[in-house]
Amino acid sequence: MSTCSCYGLYVTGGFRTVAGMTQAINDNATDGIGLGRPATQEFDLPNNLINGTFQSTPFWRFGDDFNAALFACACQMSQAGLTEYFPDRGVNYGIMDLSNDKTFEEYQNAYNEFIKIITKKGEAGKFYFGIVPYQLNGRAIICEGVVSKF
Ligand SMILES: Cc1cc2nc3c(=O)[nH]c(=O)nc-3n(C[C@H](O)[C@H](O)[C@H](O)COP(=O)(O)O)c2cc1C
Repeated sequence: MSTCSCYGLYVTGGFRTVAGMTQAINDNATDGIGLGRPATQEFDLPNNLINGTFQSTPFWRFGDDFNAALFACACQMSQAGLTEYFPDRGVNYGIMDLSNDKTFEEYQNAYNEFIKIITKKGEAGKFYFGIVPYQLNGRAIICEGVVSKF
C-alpha cells in the first residue's frame, strides 16, 4: 500500500520559545507550528521568530485563563482592523501593548467594566457580548439581544 506524504501535520497550543518549536519539528512531532494567543499582540511575530529577531513569544499576562485571553486577543484584532496601515508605522501600530503596565491596567479596568455589564444584562435575561471597548477609535462592537425562553 502506498502512503501519501502530501499532507502535513501542524500543531498549535502552548508553543512559546523558538527552541521548543525547533525541537518539536526536529523530533518529527509536527511539520509546523501554529500560534494562537501570542500572535495578536504582535502581528509580525512569526516573521520575527523565523528570522531570529525574537527567541520567544511576548510577555504574557493571562496565564492559563483562556477566557480572559480571548477577550484580549479579540480586542487586539479589532484594534488592528480599525487602524489604517502605514508602512512607516509598522504593523503593530494601534494595537495595545499588554506588556506595558499602564496599558494593561487600563485594559483590565475596561474589561472588568465590560464583564459587569454582560453579567447585569444576563441577569435581566438579555444577551450582551462583544469587544472590550478599549482603544477602538470610539467604536462600539456589541451584539445585544433578548435570550429566548424555550
Ligand atoms: C483569538 C483566537 C481565536 C481562535 N479561534 C479559533 C477557531 O476559530 N477555531 C479553532 O479551532 N481554534 C481557535 N483558536 C484556538 C487556537 O487555534 C489554538 O488552538 C489555541 O489558542 C492554543 O494555542 P496557543 O497556546 O498558541 O494560544 C483561537 C484562539 C485565539 C486566541
